[in-house]
Amino acid sequence: MGPGPVTVDPRVLRAMSAQLVGQYDPAMTAYMDETRALYREVFATDNEATVLVDGTSRAGIEAALVSLITPGDTVLVPVFGRFGHLLREIAERCGADVHVREVPWGRVFTPEELEAAVREVRPSLVALVQGDTSTTMNQPLEGVGAMCHRYGALLYVDVTASLAGNPFEMDAWEVDAATAGLQKCLGGPSGSAPLSLSPRAVEVVRRRRSVEAGLRADPGPGGRTAAGDARIRSNYFDLAMILDYWGEERLNHHTEATTMLYGARECARLLLEEGLPEVLARHRLHGAAMLAGVRGLGLAVFGDVERKMHNVVAVHVPAGVDGDAVRAELLQDYGIEIGTSFGPLAGRVWRIGTMGYNARKDAVLVTLAALEQVLRRHGAPVEPGGGTAAAQEVYA
Ligand SMILES: Cc1ncc(COP(=O)(O)O)c(C=O)c1O
Repeated sequence: MGPGPVTVDPRVLRAMSAQLVGQYDPAMTAYMDETRALYREVFATDNEATVLVDGTSRAGIEAALVSLITPGDTVLVPVFGRFGHLLREIAERCGADVHVREVPWGRVFTPEELEAAVREVRPSLVALVQGDTSTTMNQPLEGVGAMCHRYGALLYVDVTASLAGNPFEMDAWEVDAATAGLQKCLGGPSGSAPLSLSPRAVEVVRRRRSVEAGLRADPGPGGRTAAGDARIRSNYFDLAMILDYWGEERLNHHTEATTMLYGARECARLLLEEGLPEVLARHRLHGAAMLAGVRGLGLAVFGDVERKMHNVVAVHVPAGVDGDAVRAELLQDYGIEIGTSFGPLAGRVWRIGTMGYNARKDAVLVTLAALEQVLRRHGAPVEPGGGTAAAQEVYA
């Protein structure tokens, strides 16, 4: 019941135990095509360029940023938590001239603040997190893409923690690049990063396209690749190459992580069978029950609650209580894992998730009951039965 990774849906585990097939086996290429189509629905986009990057969510972020940023580009990173800092760090490593704007952890940016920053910095790319798991805040994105485009910037968004738990409309919100992971609301393991690029973003990436010398009939003198200095600075994360691999060209790049593909495909199939609106409603319901429950126990919630993601809540550790000892006891005695956070919030809050397979009534109620018992043993003044009662009211 932490902020992810969470318990994997058993159907995903089963899918991942299937036998492997070769990467150009028609069954495999059909799975790849099917997975692209499924993730277009998950991201709410018609983007042809929708693929999986092999690696954890961070691999998707690196692929997007290293492929969209040419060294020397001006990039704006609005930071409202740990993962905004991660975007800044990766953009810096890509050689960008990075401009950061920060708001205190526990809040998000207003549209006016974002526009003022874009007007001032004039970036070619704005890199933003939707749900920053470290603070649980959910940055509103409606209108942000259109605003970026008015100033000639592309918009990249990290939706790792928020996708499927909170609305995300890639096309309607004019987002140019989005990356995710499986281990949060998609109910899978970490290790595959769904990614989608708008036609505008594809144009930038394609301008930097190169083909490995060993794949060309005539490698040319010294076997240099085609794109020269504009070439994307990573081979593994070169989205032009990854698009060539996933596209009709099927140009060899990495060996697709077949088992992760099975897992990613099953996550999306599960989600779309249940229905995207239904999955969002489930996260909203169980998130509301958990929020009411922790408050019913008498605990204080961190940050701007109106802006938090549905699928995770951060709770202040009560004064005098050893937060890590509580987490350890929950795990040892009840088999329930919850998280703390990072940086300024490390040890100060607990983060409790209701996401993916764990966005369920029994999981919420059992967690609240267990937390009450452990808190009482630690001398915290909790309301007896207050957590489950408040959650049950939400379910009534
Ligand atoms: C918002 C966000 N972005 C990026 C990451 C990094 O993901 P990974 O650990 O899968 O690389 C996480 C992980 O928790 C996250 O919550």
